[in-house]
Amino acid sequence: MGARAVITIDGPAGAGKSTVARLLARSLGYLYLDSGALYRAVAWQASRLGLDLGDPRALSSFLAEFKPEVTSDKEGFHLWVNGQEISKELRTPQVSRAASRVAVLPRVRRWVKERLRHLARAGGVVAEGRDQGTVVFPEAEYKFFLDAALPTRAARRRQDWQGADSPPLMENIMAEVAARDRQDETRAEAPLAIPQGAIFIDTTDLSIEEVVGQCLARIRAS
Ligand code: DC
Repeated sequence: MGARAVITIDGPAGAGKSTVARLLARSLGYLYLDSGALYRAVAWQASRLGLDLGDPRALSSFLAEFKPEVTSDKEGFHLWVNGQEISKELRTPQVSRAASRVAVLPRVRRWVKERLRHLARAGGVVAEGRDQGTVVFPEAEYKFFLDAALPTRAARRRQDWQGADSPPLMENIMAEVAARDRQDETRAEAPLAIPQGAIFIDTTDLSIEEVVGQCLARIRAS
């Protein structure tokens, strides 16, 4: 394995990307980059400012000034705005919905891509998302694409609601995950696709440790 490589992990919601990417980064001593969190941060801040996402000029001047701080440690990827950690705020269903809306906007995608490339300028990163191996880091040394059966992915998403008073019905979660898949796969800008040269891993019947183990084995074998 080359020193300080760029590793990408793409795939649909619930495929296991975040946990795998975080653990892989930890075991290699690399920086973990969560591209979805950057889309979420744009959505969160734009909503707070009451921005009209249909107004390209307003969006452009907002993004030119929007410079959240990024830190990454063994707990994960953290974003800070005006000295406040916003990682928890980014995980609400409202922000999820708003994030998938801003993720179709070319100006937003360019902003996220530039931030990620800047963070990865010295290599040594595991970047996770939908277009990391196709658009953001097409030259990455190692590319993985994780997927799992829809009911499995929906069941994993349902765990996010653990402890909530009235978690949504499984069939509603499944419908929402399927709708997000469709949106991610059919959008004009950087649709979710298996990158050329990517190693495909079906995580349906695998534990997180098994997936991380497979990734490490492939990386160390080359
Ligand atoms: O992975 P996530 O749920 O945190 O992603 C939030 C949204 O951002 C989701 O709608 C997909 C989108 N996204 C994207 O379009 N491209 C990426 N590289 C990462 C996320």
